[in-house]
Amino acid sequence: MTAVVVGASSGLGRALAGELARSGRGLLLIASDLRDLHAVAADLQVRHDVTISTLALDLAREPDPGARIREALIGLPDISALLLPVGLSRSDDDFSLSAARIGELLAINLHAPLAIVHALLPSLRESHGSVVLFGSIASARGRGRNVVYASAKRALDSLYESLRQTHAPDALHVQLYRLGFLATNLTYGVKLPLGASQPADIARKVVARLGKGSFAHHLPRRYGLIAWLVRSLPWSLYRRWRG
Ligand SMILES: NC(=O)c1ccc[n+]([C@@H]2O[C@H](COP(=O)([O-])OP(=O)(O)OC[C@H]3O[C@@H](n4cnc5c(N)ncnc54)[C@H](OP(=O)(O)O)[C@@H]3O)[C@@H](O)[C@H]2O)c1
Repeated sequence: MTAVVVGASSGLGRALAGELARSGRGLLLIASDLRDLHAVAADLQVRHDVTISTLALDLAREPDPGARIREALIGLPDISALLLPVGLSRSDDDFSLSAARIGELLAINLHAPLAIVHALLPSLRESHGSVVLFGSIASARGRGRNVVYASAKRALDSLYESLRQTHAPDALHVQLYRLGFLATNLTYGVKLPLGASQPADIARKVVARLGKGSFAHHLPRRYGLIAWLVRSLPWSLYRRWRG
């Protein structure tokens, strides 16, 4: 069976690819830069006896990423898992983005997950496979930073609910992780209010739960409490918070 990892060239996606290869799954790895993907695939190929394919797609500009992935899957074993640790955030996402930049952020963080899930759903239903979405603590409550990124991440909650509402847990495993801070490119050089988790630790937990039902979790779990506290703050206090 094949696992598809979208956003596999760095951070959590790269760690997931490593963990999936270690568990013996064949892989289709996707990101924008073919050289990065080849480096990840070559490294995994040396250490694990699995088939690894790669596909370079610029998800900021690709109108039909699902169709491109379906083509790349021809000839590979059936797909059993689709993991979407793809994401892009920007430090100037504070109401100063142009329409073109807003479109790019939405394309990567929302259009790509939606379009890819739509395109691969028939095959995933056939294999009773898993769809794994990655949200963010940044979308717990709207604020003046990560305006577009958080909007897109919040929309993934709706996609998760739509998938769950239409599929029994034994027909399709739908899993949403609302992640806290990770030590990856996305947060490199950013002053964080809390310590960042290692992608490898998160990847181990995600891969261990593949095919084990449908759920939405905060990861690490303590972020569930943090999200609840942030959402519970009275508006008058929250307005003044600059976190
Ligand atoms: N880091 C955090 O603190 C944090 C917190 C909460 C949630 N998350 C979420 O967790 C997931 C993993 O994040 P991460 O920190 O591991 O991010 P990362 O290290 O920046 O990796 C993001 C991945 O997305 C790919 N990607 C970005 N733009 C792309 C494009 N235009 N076309 C194709 N691929 C593209 C990147 O590949 P290329 O750039 O090489 O194409 C890379 O493989 C994301 O969904 C992120 O939103 C992260």
